[in-house]
Amino acid sequence: MSKSLDTSTSEAEQTVTDVVDGIAATTPDVRRAIADHRGQSNSVNPTGDDQLAADLRADELFERRLLDIDGVATYASEERADVKATDGRLHVAMDPLDGSSNLEPNSGMGTIFGVYSERPPTVGTNLLAAGFVVYGPITSMVVARKGRVHEYIVEDGDKRVVDDDVTVPDDPTVFGFGGGVDSWTEEFESYAEEIRHELKLRYGGAMVADINQVLTYGGVFSYPELESRPEGKLRVQFEGHPMAYIVESAGGRSSDGNRSLLEVDPDALHERTPLYLGNDDLVDRLEASID
Ligand code: AHG
Ligand code: MN
Ligand code: MN
Repeated sequence: MSKSLDTSTSEAEQTVTDVVDGIAATTPDVRRAIADHRGQSNSVNPTGDDQLAADLRADELFERRLLDIDGVATYASEERADVKATDGRLHVAMDPLDGSSNLEPNSGMGTIFGVYSERPPTVGTNLLAAGFVVYGPITSMVVARKGRVHEYIVEDGDKRVVDDDVTVPDDPTVFGFGGGVDSWTEEFESYAEEIRHELKLRYGGAMVADINQVLTYGGVFSYPELESRPEGKLRVQFEGHPMAYIVESAGGRSSDGNRSLLEVDPDALHERTPLYLGNDDLVDRLEASID
């Protein structure tokens, strides 16, 4: 068990900066992988999802870049069964390519990452920073650290800040719910029925792009528990924790249906969770309705 790390040190801060800059520097190669590696890979990831060649290529690119950083001790991703270790102090967990089912129709995709003080599987409150990249018409990056959320445009791997205090707008506008109405529980369905009369539907099949809509316009995103799948679809360590850290740092709320997703302490690296994120009152209402 690594001795607990004084994560306020400038060394830890420098490592977080190096991870963020390393991910930004890798984005041109990931965009090339999206263009050149469009086929299936005939393999599945540890949660049983088919892997595209681009999923594997992005995973390789990030592992190489991030394990090269002095302060990074381990690299974990949804594409690989085990954590890869080297010396260092901080731990990076990634969804190298989020929304890869959007690759064929060339719709939005992204990368999600979290920087933890402890080796995964670990609780979300051990996050020191988290962020995502959106491979859209332009490449943008959102990074949450020390209670603030910054947005960057990334060109040729270099980032420049466009907003240094991203906050969830008070008046919500959009919603996006995964899973499909026939698979929802009755409680979630009645919540969704209320919301769809209040907000505009924005669901694109990649949580990174859908949550970026919530950060931009206010609202709520969910991949809820399903009748057939009470644990939902999304992964705690690679999607739930990082996105919860970002949305909560931007003044919103996260929930697994009962509490902040950051309180979820997974036993296994590839555990799934129901996920609800967005304006605090919309998440409060969700928790009240599925109680
Ligand atoms: P990934 O491509 O990393 O597996 O993630 C896809 C996730 C998430 O990004 C998105 O919100 C959800 O799957 C979409 O699921 P459906 O295709 O079932 O709507
Ligand atoms: Mn994903
Ligand atoms: Mn993925």
